[in-house]
Amino acid sequence: MSEQQVDNSKRRFLLIASSAVGAVATAGVAVPFVASFFPSERAKAAGAPVEVDISKLEPGQKITVEWRGKPVWVVNRTPEMLKDLSKNDPKLLDPKSDASDQPEYCHNATRSIKPEIWVATGVCTHLGCSPTFRPDLAPADLGPDWVGGFYCPCHGSKFDLAGRVFSGVPAPINLVIPPHKYLTDSTILVGEDK
Ligand code: FES
Repeated sequence: MSEQQVDNSKRRFLLIASSAVGAVATAGVAVPFVASFFPSERAKAAGAPVEVDISKLEPGQKITVEWRGKPVWVVNRTPEMLKDLSKNDPKLLDPKSDASDQPEYCHNATRSIKPEIWVATGVCTHLGCSPTFRPDLAPADLGPDWVGGFYCPCHGSKFDLAGRVFSGVPAPINLVIPPHKYLTDSTILVGEDK
Protein backbone atom coordinates (compact mmCIF):
# COMPACT_ATOMS: atom_id res chain seq x y z
CA MET A 1 0.00 0.00 0.00
CA SER A 2 1.44 3.41 -1.03
CA GLU A 3 1.75 6.36 1.35
CA GLN A 4 -0.90 8.19 -0.72
CA GLN A 5 -3.40 5.37 -0.28
CA VAL A 6 -2.85 5.30 3.46
CA ASP A 7 -3.45 9.05 3.68
CA ASN A 8 -6.65 8.76 1.65
CA SER A 9 -8.10 6.05 3.78
CA LYS A 10 -7.20 7.99 6.91
CA ARG A 11 -8.93 11.09 5.55
CA ARG A 12 -12.01 9.08 4.71
CA PHE A 13 -12.11 7.76 8.26
CA LEU A 14 -11.75 11.27 9.66
CA LEU A 15 -14.57 12.50 7.43
CA ILE A 16 -16.88 9.73 8.56
CA ALA A 17 -15.92 10.28 12.18
CA SER A 18 -16.54 14.02 12.05
CA SER A 19 -19.94 13.59 10.38
CA ALA A 20 -20.92 11.19 13.12
CA VAL A 21 -19.85 13.72 15.74
CA GLY A 22 -21.82 16.37 13.83
CA ALA A 23 -24.94 14.21 13.92
CA VAL A 24 -24.60 13.67 17.65
CA ALA A 25 -23.99 17.38 18.21
CA THR A 26 -27.12 18.26 16.20
CA ALA A 27 -29.21 15.81 18.18
CA GLY A 28 -27.81 17.35 21.35
CA VAL A 29 -28.83 20.85 20.23
CA ALA A 30 -32.29 19.65 19.24
CA VAL A 31 -33.16 18.25 22.67
CA PRO A 32 -31.31 20.29 25.31
CA PHE A 33 -34.41 20.45 27.51
CA VAL A 34 -34.96 16.70 27.49
CA ALA A 35 -31.25 16.05 27.91
CA SER A 36 -31.04 18.19 31.02
CA PHE A 37 -33.82 16.15 32.64
CA PHE A 38 -32.55 12.82 31.42
CA PRO A 39 -30.48 11.66 34.39
CA SER A 40 -33.23 12.07 36.95
CA GLU A 41 -35.89 10.57 34.64
CA ARG A 42 -33.58 7.66 33.95
CA ALA A 43 -32.95 7.22 37.65
CA LYS A 44 -36.68 7.27 38.31
CA ALA A 45 -37.38 4.74 35.57
CA ALA A 46 -34.75 2.49 37.07
CA GLY A 47 -36.63 2.61 40.34
CA ALA A 48 -34.84 5.28 42.35
CA PRO A 49 -36.70 5.63 45.66
CA VAL A 50 -38.91 8.67 46.21
CA GLU A 51 -39.13 10.67 49.43
CA VAL A 52 -42.64 11.66 50.49
CA ASP A 53 -43.31 14.44 52.98
CA ILE A 54 -46.46 13.53 54.88
CA SER A 55 -46.26 16.35 57.45
CA LYS A 56 -49.26 18.12 55.87
CA LEU A 57 -51.31 15.01 55.12
CA GLU A 58 -54.46 15.46 57.18
CA PRO A 59 -56.53 12.52 58.50
CA GLY A 60 -58.82 11.34 55.71
CA GLN A 61 -56.61 12.72 52.94
CA LYS A 62 -54.65 11.02 50.17
CA ILE A 63 -51.63 12.21 48.23
CA THR A 64 -50.18 10.64 45.11
CA VAL A 65 -46.51 10.44 44.16
CA GLU A 66 -44.85 8.66 41.26
CA TRP A 67 -42.46 5.77 41.58
CA ARG A 68 -41.24 3.68 38.65
CA GLY A 69 -43.75 5.48 36.43
CA LYS A 70 -46.70 4.39 38.55
CA PRO A 71 -48.90 6.34 40.96
CA VAL A 72 -48.25 5.54 44.60
CA TRP A 73 -50.85 6.65 47.11
CA VAL A 74 -50.28 7.64 50.70
CA VAL A 75 -53.49 7.81 52.72
CA ASN A 76 -53.85 9.08 56.27
CA ARG A 77 -56.70 6.91 57.57
CA THR A 78 -58.86 8.21 60.39
CA PRO A 79 -59.63 6.05 63.47
CA GLU A 80 -63.16 5.52 62.05
CA MET A 81 -61.76 4.34 58.74
CA LEU A 82 -59.52 1.86 60.53
CA LYS A 83 -62.37 0.65 62.72
CA ASP A 84 -64.58 0.08 59.66
CA LEU A 85 -62.00 -2.01 57.80
CA SER A 86 -63.01 -5.26 59.47
CA LYS A 87 -66.64 -4.74 58.43
CA ASN A 88 -65.55 -5.49 54.87
CA ASP A 89 -63.89 -8.82 55.65
CA PRO A 90 -66.82 -11.12 54.76
CA LYS A 91 -67.18 -9.43 51.37
CA LEU A 92 -63.53 -9.59 50.35
CA LEU A 93 -61.73 -12.01 48.06
CA ASP A 94 -58.50 -12.16 50.08
CA PRO A 95 -59.25 -10.49 53.43
CA LYS A 96 -55.97 -11.55 55.05
CA SER A 97 -53.99 -10.69 51.92
CA ASP A 98 -52.38 -14.13 51.98
CA ALA A 99 -52.38 -14.37 48.18
CA SER A 100 -51.61 -10.70 47.62
CA ASP A 101 -48.48 -8.73 47.01
CA GLN A 102 -47.10 -6.71 49.91
CA PRO A 103 -43.86 -6.63 51.91
CA GLU A 104 -43.89 -8.92 54.92
CA TYR A 105 -44.03 -5.94 57.32
CA CYS A 106 -47.36 -4.93 55.70
CA HIS A 107 -48.88 -8.43 55.80
CA ASN A 108 -51.26 -7.49 58.60
CA ALA A 109 -54.85 -6.32 59.11
CA THR A 110 -54.18 -2.73 58.01
CA ARG A 111 -51.59 -3.61 55.32
CA SER A 112 -49.28 -0.91 56.63
CA ILE A 113 -46.33 -0.16 58.91
CA LYS A 114 -48.25 2.37 61.05
CA PRO A 115 -51.98 1.68 61.17
CA GLU A 116 -53.11 5.13 60.05
CA ILE A 117 -50.63 5.73 57.20
CA TRP A 118 -51.21 3.47 54.24
CA VAL A 119 -48.97 3.30 51.16
CA ALA A 120 -50.10 1.48 48.01
CA THR A 121 -49.55 1.32 44.29
CA GLY A 122 -52.56 3.07 42.74
CA VAL A 123 -52.95 0.65 39.86
CA CYS A 124 -55.96 -1.63 39.50
CA THR A 125 -54.97 -5.29 39.53
CA HIS A 126 -57.43 -6.01 36.72
CA LEU A 127 -56.11 -4.13 33.69
CA GLY A 128 -54.12 -1.29 35.19
CA CYS A 129 -56.44 1.73 35.43
CA SER A 130 -56.01 3.95 38.45
CA PRO A 131 -58.96 3.60 40.85
CA THR A 132 -60.71 6.64 42.29
CA PHE A 133 -60.48 7.49 46.00
CA ARG A 134 -63.98 7.18 47.46
CA PRO A 135 -63.80 7.85 51.20
CA ASP A 136 -67.48 8.88 51.32
CA LEU A 137 -69.88 6.74 53.34
CA ALA A 138 -72.81 4.94 51.69
CA PRO A 139 -72.86 6.92 48.43
CA ALA A 140 -75.75 6.19 46.07
CA ASP A 141 -73.56 4.56 43.43
CA LEU A 142 -71.64 2.27 45.80
CA GLY A 143 -74.40 1.23 48.14
CA PRO A 144 -75.40 1.56 51.79
CA ASP A 145 -72.63 -0.75 53.05
CA TRP A 146 -69.79 1.29 51.55
CA VAL A 147 -67.45 2.51 54.32
CA GLY A 148 -64.84 4.10 52.08
CA GLY A 149 -62.39 2.68 49.60
CA PHE A 150 -61.43 2.87 45.96
CA TYR A 151 -63.55 2.40 42.86
CA CYS A 152 -62.06 1.57 39.48
CA PRO A 153 -64.06 3.40 36.79
CA CYS A 154 -62.82 1.12 33.99
CA HIS A 155 -64.72 -2.06 34.84
CA GLY A 156 -66.10 -1.44 38.31
CA SER A 157 -63.62 -3.15 40.63
CA LYS A 158 -63.87 -2.09 44.26
CA PHE A 159 -61.20 -2.05 46.97
CA ASP A 160 -61.42 -1.10 50.62
CA LEU A 161 -59.17 1.42 52.40
CA ALA A 162 -56.49 -1.24 52.80
CA GLY A 163 -56.58 -1.95 49.06
CA ARG A 164 -58.33 -5.29 49.56
CA VAL A 165 -60.48 -6.26 46.61
CA PHE A 166 -64.17 -7.09 46.97
CA SER A 167 -65.51 -10.39 45.69
CA GLY A 168 -67.41 -10.47 42.41
CA VAL A 169 -65.48 -7.74 40.59
CA PRO A 170 -63.01 -8.18 37.70
CA ALA A 171 -59.83 -7.42 39.70
CA PRO A 172 -58.38 -10.76 40.86
CA ILE A 173 -56.25 -9.64 43.79
CA ASN A 174 -55.62 -6.85 46.30
CA LEU A 175 -53.74 -3.69 45.35
CA VAL A 176 -49.97 -3.99 45.56
CA ILE A 177 -48.07 -2.43 48.47
CA PRO A 178 -44.62 -1.23 47.36
CA PRO A 179 -41.52 -1.47 49.56
CA HIS A 180 -41.18 1.59 51.78
CA LYS A 181 -39.86 2.77 55.12
CA TYR A 182 -39.94 5.77 57.43
CA LEU A 183 -36.95 8.11 57.32
CA THR A 184 -38.52 10.31 60.02
CA ASP A 185 -42.02 10.48 61.52
CA SER A 186 -43.10 12.69 58.63
CA THR A 187 -41.00 11.36 55.75
CA ILE A 188 -41.52 8.09 53.95
CA LEU A 189 -39.14 6.62 51.42
CA VAL A 190 -41.05 4.73 48.72
CA GLY A 191 -39.11 2.12 46.79
CA GLU A 192 -36.62 1.07 49.43
CA ASP A 193 -36.99 -0.64 52.78
CA LYS A 194 -33.50 -1.73 53.77
S1 FES B 1 -58.90 -1.98 35.17
FE1 FES B 1 -59.88 -1.71 37.07
S2 FES B 1 -61.66 -2.88 36.87
FE2 FES B 1 -60.65 -3.19 35.00
